[in-house]
Amino acid sequence: MRIFVTAAGGTEKALKEELRELGYRRLQGQRGGVWLSGNREVAARICLHSRVAVRVLAELGRFACPDEDALYRGVQGLEWARWLTPERSLAVTSVARSSGLTHTQYIAQKTKDAIVDAQRVAHGRRSSVDRNDPDVAVFVHLEKNEAGVFLDASGRSLHLRGWRTEATEAPLKETLAAAMVRLGGWDRETPLFDPMCGSGTLVIEADLIARRVPPHPRAHRFGFERWADYDAEAAAAIDALREEAHAGARASGPRCAGADIDPEAVDIARRNAERAGAQAHFSEASLGALRLEGPHHVLSNPPYGQRLEADAAFWEALRGAMRRNPECTFSLLLPEEGAPRDLGERRAVRAHPLFNGRIRCRLVTWSSMKT
Ligand SMILES: C[S@@+](CC[C@H](N)C(=O)[O-])C[C@H]1O[C@@H](n2cnc3c(N)ncnc32)[C@H](O)[C@@H]1O
Repeated sequence: MRIFVTAAGGTEKALKEELRELGYRRLQGQRGGVWLSGNREVAARICLHSRVAVRVLAELGRFACPDEDALYRGVQGLEWARWLTPERSLAVTSVARSSGLTHTQYIAQKTKDAIVDAQRVAHGRRSSVDRNDPDVAVFVHLEKNEAGVFLDASGRSLHLRGWRTEATEAPLKETLAAAMVRLGGWDRETPLFDPMCGSGTLVIEADLIARRVPPHPRAHRFGFERWADYDAEAAAAIDALREEAHAGARASGPRCAGADIDPEAVDIARRNAERAGAQAHFSEASLGALRLEGPHHVLSNPPYGQRLEADAAFWEALRGAMRRNPECTFSLLLPEEGAPRDLGERRAVRAHPLFNGRIRCRLVTWSSMKT
């Protein structure tokens, strides 16, 4: 089976690195994700371990799809009974690019019709549609008149870890935060600090990455666990993988801490860390007073964009913080537009393009001045 693991724009490299760490080879990166081949256990391991993946899609089939008849026939020709019985609910979503069929809702509707018509013939009954919480989520990707039909093995988007039930303004998605931890080049040993921590996402993800804590709690269930082929034997195999993932967690790691000028943010970050089981420390402090003892990796996304504004005084405070902490490496997620190009005497060693939602950004890293 071919598997496509999706990732937010710009984080594909971090995902590839993470999949390599999980032991997977022959990875093929493309815009929006990474391809690899594997079985259900591979899909399950990625769901259980990956912090950068957004969805894990298992490819059921691929066919030429110049028009709606080809779509209907192609979908009907796939082996649905193995995954979807009439008792299980269904939802279909789609995207289309450079193809004859362009209307994504129509593509999804036609796909759903083909599946349930095939079920009626085979069983005399059909699945109901549940758009919010389907047992089996089908995804159709149409590009240049070729259709790929996938089952979503992850279920809910993997960025939803369960612990961030409270957030401050403009929080980072957990998957983007995890990608930043990797792309900033943190060595997972040096103490990490986020001086503008908001709801604490970067600090919490960093601690959990360093200590190899799986992204989801034991009780979390993934999409593939509701498919028709998920029998007792499969459940036992996945339980073993789940136990292995949790058994690999370390009791302690490098110090991960953060601060924010807003006391409410500090309280929220603390509560999020507690829910996540993270060993993270938060305090109320202004960037203007940032003075860290010894080498740290400073990782942060300063306020910018539509919801939070940064003015000239703020950028000056950031320059001051870099000047006062020469032993620290700084990795900052800055907007392409609106951030000054120079932030002090240091020369940036890396700049990685990323999207924070729709805002085009760069994760810029300045290494410490004392190496
Ligand atoms: C974009 S948010 C960070 C969001 C965070 N990464 C998250 O995932 O929730 C920026 C944060 O910087 C804080 N902030 C703004 N100016 C600051 C300053 N001078 N010193 C410290 N924190 C500041 C804001 O209170 C806000 O929480």
